[in-house]
Parts: sequence; C-alpha cells; structure tokens
Amino acid sequence: MKKILVTGGMGYIGSHTCVQMIEAGFTPIILDNLANSKPEVLLRIARLSGHKPMFYEGDVRDRRLLDQIFSEHQIESVIHFAGLKAVGESVLKPFEYYDNNVYGSLVLADVMRQSGVKSLIFSSSATVYGEPETMPIDESFTTGAVTNPYGRSKYMVEECLRDIQQAAPDLSIALLRYFNPVGAHPSGLIGEDPQGIPNNLMPFIAQVAVGRRESLSIFGDDYLTADGTGVRDYIHVMDLADGHIATLKAVAQTAGLHIFNLGTGKGSSVLEMVKAFEEACGHPIPYQICPRRGGDISECWAATDKAAQLLGWKASRSIEQMSADTWHWQSKNPNGYEQ
Ligand code: NAD
Ligand code: WQD
Repeated sequence: MKKILVTGGMGYIGSHTCVQMIEAGFTPIILDNLANSKPEVLLRIARLSGHKPMFYEGDVRDRRLLDQIFSEHQIESVIHFAGLKAVGESVLKPFEYYDNNVYGSLVLADVMRQSGVKSLIFSSSATVYGEPETMPIDESFTTGAVTNPYGRSKYMVEECLRDIQQAAPDLSIALLRYFNPVGAHPSGLIGEDPQGIPNNLMPFIAQVAVGRRESLSIFGDDYLTADGTGVRDYIHVMDLADGHIATLKAVAQTAGLHIFNLGTGKGSSVLEMVKAFEEACGHPIPYQICPRRGGDISECWAATDKAAQLLGWKASRSIEQMSADTWHWQSKNPNGYEQ
C-alpha cells in the first residue's frame, strides 16, 4: 500500500482528497493540528471509505513529530494542505500566516530531505497570478503580483520550492494552483465548515439558504463583466480531490517541478452562483448589492489544457452539481460538524 502523508488532511480539501485516495488504493496518513477542523472529520472519512486513516494531531512546524512520522512509515509522497487561508485575517496577522505557511513548508521540506522522501505536492492558489490582463490564465503567466499576506505566503512557498527543487533535481515537486474550490461530497457527510462568518461566497450563500444568516452581500455589480458581478472559476471539491490522485499517479514519482492549474476553465458570476443555488435549495436567496470588496479582482478563470494533457485530468462537475452537493451537506449539517 502506498503511504501518503497528508498535512491538513482534516480540513475541507484534505478530507475529500483522503476519501478519494483510499478509493484509489492509497493509504493516507494525516497530520493536522485541528486549528481549523474537527476530530469528527476522521470518523466521517472512515464511514465513507471504510478505512480510518492513521491520525497524528500536531503541527507541521514540529520537526520532532515529522521525524517520528517519517521514521515510523515508509512515506512515498507528501500532500501539503496544512496552512492558514483567510485573506482578511492574513492582513491583520501577517506573522501567523508567514509562520504557518512559509516556515511550516520549510520545516516540512527540510525533514523530508533528511528522511529521503523525494515527492511533495503543494496546495497553491490562483491568487499567485494577481490580476492578469487576459483570460484564461495559463501556467506560464507571471506570478507574484499578490495583494495580501496570504497570497504572498503562497507565492513565497512556490519560490522556495522552485529553488529547493533546482538544487536537488531528483526531487518531484508539484505546485497545484487551485481556483475556487466549492461543493461537498455527494453523500453530504463531509463538506466545508467555516468557523465564524464565512469569507467565501459559496459557504455564505449556503448559510443564508439554511437560515443561519439573513442575506448575502454582493460585493459590487459594476465590474466589466456580463452582469457586473465578479467572475470566478468555481471547481467542485470532488474534482479537485481527483486532481490530486491524478497528480500522484502521473508526476509524483517523476523528478522535476510540475506546475498545474486545477480549475474548470469556465467562469461564473456571483449572480449565476446565486441562481444555481436557488435552484438547488428550492427557495430564493435574499441579497443586497454592496460596494466592492478591497483587493478583489474582476474576473479569473483557468486554462486547463496542461492538466488535461499531462495529468489526464479534467474537472467535470457543473455549478448546478456544486450547488446541489453544498446544499445537501449544509441542510444535513446546518451547524457543520458541531451538532
Ligand atoms: P482548511 O482550513 O479547511 O484545511 C487546512 C487544514 O490544515 C485544517 O484542518 C487545519 O487545522 C490544518 N492546519 C493549519 N495549520 C496547520 C499547522 N501549522 N500544522 C498542522 N495542521 C495545520 O483549508 P482548505 O480549504 O482545505 O485548504 C487547504 C489548502 O489549500 C490550504 O493550504 C489553502 O491555502 C489551499 N487553498 C485553498 C483554497 C480554498 O479556497 N479553500 C484555494 C486555494 C488554495
Ligand atoms: C468570490 C466572488 C467576491 C463573498 C478567495 C481567495 C483565494 C482563494 C479562494 C485560497 C468574488 C464575491 C464573496 C460574499 C460576494 N483562497 N463575494 N459576497 O475572492 O475569488 O478567492 O478564495 O487560496 O486566494 O482570495 O473567493 O469566494 O471570497 O469570492 O459577493 O460574501 O464572490 O467579491 O467576486 P475569491 P470568494
């Protein structure tokens, strides 16, 4: 059985990826400090997949714990999801973001080097592209024009890993740039469970739909887009999880720096997302138009050819499916994992 260390495996994307990994015959071993996730997730992964992954509760910055994990297991690859991800919070707490995201990744890379583990898949973000002048965005576009500490931490880790791979060419390092992950496992057993007020569109809509919040604020309707609201490339978290399996199979054992967009190639506006969700939940989503949110770009979607050609992977689920699965999860678990 191929053992894969999954840092942040109790989180939103990590939990879905663990389920898909088990299905595909991999054995995930999870390291997570539960900073943004609940112990219940492990039981749900077990219920869905028939296998309860080994779980180490701890921090990716804990060198001794990483040493222990690598000596107890023959790890084939590491998927590194662990990190902090709230853009607004990163402006207020830059130290925490650089410490968790940048320093944490460096500790991991260093212990991997000492333990002889040569394959790393890193969760990066489309945010590293800033706001390009043309769409779709392909992997050769310039990166680094980021506007907040969260985005900068992702860009910095990418640059560190690029140098580390160049100095040790036998390493396989994949930088996966996710667009906007949404949706949930179709069972409704696992999904996104933001703490406090959701920062992102889809979980906010879902909480309005289930009655936890009164109405959605739409941040701007005066963008140069078809209906004036912001356009993003929303990707179903199950497609994203499958993108990691494809990466494990296609490139994780091939030396090199492998950079891929994980998106659908299709942009949808805020109003289109609201409409798709209304159809899924069967009632209107109250909203009001508000001023633009600082730092937001107008539109963004991925070029997907490289992933299709080299990973043999393409996202297939529609925004209707994303809305239906989010609604299934939210209505079954109105308060997330805390019942
Ligand atoms: P998440 O917060 O749900 O999951 C991250 C997990 O990492 C959580 O379970 C958290 O407890 C854990 N964690 C955080 N810091 C840790 C540390 N120092 N040591 C050990 N565990 C730690 O987030 P997610 O949406 O699943 O995102 C996963 C990764 O993908 C993150 O790196 C994020 O930056 C990246 N990403 C997310 C999105 C998105 O919109 N969700 C988009 C692009 C990239
Ligand atoms: C989507 C659209 C908003 C909330 C962020 C990070 C990015 C990545 C994904 C991690 C925009 C609008 C939103 C609301 C709204 N994360 N919106 N009302 O900003 O594209 O990306 O999450 O890497 O780095 O920046 O996603 O879901 O916040 O916003 O009108 O209450 O919805 O203005 O047009 P975003 P989002």
